[in-house]
This record gives sequence, C-alpha cells and structure tokens, in this order.
Amino acid sequence: MNQIKKISIIGTGGVGATLAFNVLAWLAPKELVLIDINEDLAKGVALDLEDTRGFLGFSTKVVGGKNYSTIKNSEIVVFTAGIARKKGMTRLDLLKINSAVAKDVSKKIKKFAPKTIIIVVTNPLDVITYVMAKETKFNRQRVIGMGSSLDTSRLLNILHKATKLPVPSLEGFAYGPHSKDMIIPLQRLKTEGKSITAALKNISPRQIGQRTQLRGAEIVGLLKNRSANFAPALSCCSLIEAIVKNANVVIPVSVYLRGEYGLNNVCLGVPCLINRKGADKIIEMKISSSEKKELKKAEKLFKECMK
Ligand code: NAI
Ligand code: 2OP
Repeated sequence: MNQIKKISIIGTGGVGATLAFNVLAWLAPKELVLIDINEDLAKGVALDLEDTRGFLGFSTKVVGGKNYSTIKNSEIVVFTAGIARKKGMTRLDLLKINSAVAKDVSKKIKKFAPKTIIIVVTNPLDVITYVMAKETKFNRQRVIGMGSSLDTSRLLNILHKATKLPVPSLEGFAYGPHSKDMIIPLQRLKTEGKSITAALKNISPRQIGQRTQLRGAEIVGLLKNRSANFAPALSCCSLIEAIVKNANVVIPVSVYLRGEYGLNNVCLGVPCLINRKGADKIIEMKISSSEKKELKKAEKLFKECMK
C-alpha cells in the first residue's frame, strides 16, 4: 500500500487527540494536521504526539494550529469540533452551537480541501452530518457520519461479556440514528450462524440491545463532564483505514438518504460499502416491519430537530 498522504482532524479535544494518536501509531500518514479554535491546545497536542516518534519510529509531519490553509490536499478530514452537552443545556442548544461550527468549518473545508472525504463525529451526529453534506454540497459518498459502527462495537463487547464467546464468532450490528433510538435487529444476533439465544445465560437479547442503546449515556454518567474517547476514536480510525486501503468492507455509517429504506432528505446510519470513494454504495437490507417503523420514527424526529 502507498503511504497515506494527509489526514486532518478538526477539534483536538478528547476524541480528536485520541484519534490523532491512533492515526499516527496505526496508519502513520505523511502528514497529520490538527486544528482547534484553541490554537495552543492543537499545538501542544501536536508536540506531545510528535514526541512518541522515538518509540514508534514514524516519519509523519505533525502540524498543530488554527490555520485552515494547512488542511490543503487532505485525503480525509475528520470533524470532531464543537461542544458536548453540559448540565442545563437542551439538545436544541447543542444543535444550534454545533451546527454553527459545522457550517463554518464546512466552508473552510470546501475552500482548502475540496476533494477530501469528511468523517463527521460531532453530535448530534446525524444532524451534523446532514449540515455538512448540505453546506459543502459534496457528493454524498464523501460526507460520512461515524456513529453506528461505534454502537456496533459496543454491542459486540456487551455480547462477548454476556456469552464469553470470542468476538470474531459473534454477529450483530446497530444502525439508524446514533442515539438511544438506534436500531439493533435482535433476530440478527448470532454466533457462528445460529441464534444467540442459547448462548445467553441470565440476559435476554432485548436486554443486550437496551444496554447497548444506553452505553454512551452510561459512560457520560460515570465520566460526568465528558463523553467516551477511546472507542469513538478507534471507530474513526478503522473507517479511515477502510477508505485509504480501498477495503470494500461493509460498515454502518450515517449518510444522506435519497429514497433508500423509504427515507428522504435525512442522514441516518445504514450499512455502506466503504472504499476509496468513501461510502460508495448504500446496502439495502431486507428489514422487518418493526424496523421500518423505527426508521420512520427516526426520520420524523430528525425532521422535527431541523425545524
Ligand atoms: P471536547 O470538548 O473534548 O473537544 C472538542 C474540541 O473542539 C475542543 O478542543 C474545542 O476547543 C474544539 N472546538 C470548539 N469549537 C471549535 C471551532 N469552532 N473550531 C475548531 N475547534 C473547535 O469534545 P470530545 O469529547 O472530543 O467530543 C467532540 C464531539 O464528538 C462532541 O460533539 C461529542 O458529543 C461527539 N462525539 C461523538 C461520538 C460519535 O460516536 N459520533 C462519540 C464521542 C463523541
Ligand atoms: C457516544 O455515543 C457521546 O456520541 C457519544 O459516546
């Protein structure tokens, strides 16, 4: 594989900085750019990361700052900037603040890296993905929201702990909204092709689903003033790897839907073929009538949010 040329990360907080380390250690691109409104933070994180060179041996040029011209020619830009919901703040407050940041950054991405693929992380994930897709007017393959793949990893972890079975033998995934309303098809929870039910001792598939749906909130409840970093960062890194290695793997990501699953003008997580083009193809699975209803509900909630 040719060396990856350039990855940029906007927002050098918890997820951005953790992702930057994963990208360096795992993918070692020629250049890694970190941008944050807090210039010193981006510069400090860049220096700290650079100092791992003596252990890891990469030759990556690491740049930190707030100057968007440095993202020029990035193959991938990951958007993690904004704020997380704090005490006393409604979802709508969060939406307003992060949408404004997303619009502003979209303009800069369009100006300096018009050919890039954007991976969106900032919440509310599906709405921010939509805002960036609309604002950049990029082909929908190139604006990808990371949420359902994190939810899927959480599901597999919870299944592993409940069954003690090795993760590669487990099947299951989450899709739809990146929220507590994510969809987890329980009939698709399997081990080596067979239903998971027999392998579950003191817990039902429904409870596995519910635990997964609440995992993000469970973590925030414990960390108090921040949300998860490690699994979200690795989830982004594996998406980056699938793109740059042209892996042609199916990963659930949030993309702009134009009739797929009967949904229109909305971004939600659906399984996509991920390769050098980004979310190249949306895979339309056969889904149950209750899943169709859940998707419709998610579409309605999304549109209410956008009013
Ligand atoms: P954080 O607060 O640690 O980092 C956010 C960074 O964005 C800060 O360093 C801040 O200075 C920077 N920032 C704020 N406004 C900016 C602007 N206008 N331009 C450039 N930088 C700006 O937050 P964390 O934990 O890194 O989370 C980031 C976002 O990702 C949050 O919205 C969070 O809810 C979301 N998230 C989404 C996940 C997913 O699965 N999609 C998983 C985990 C977090
Ligand atoms: C999570 O699921 C907050 O979206 C973030 O951990």
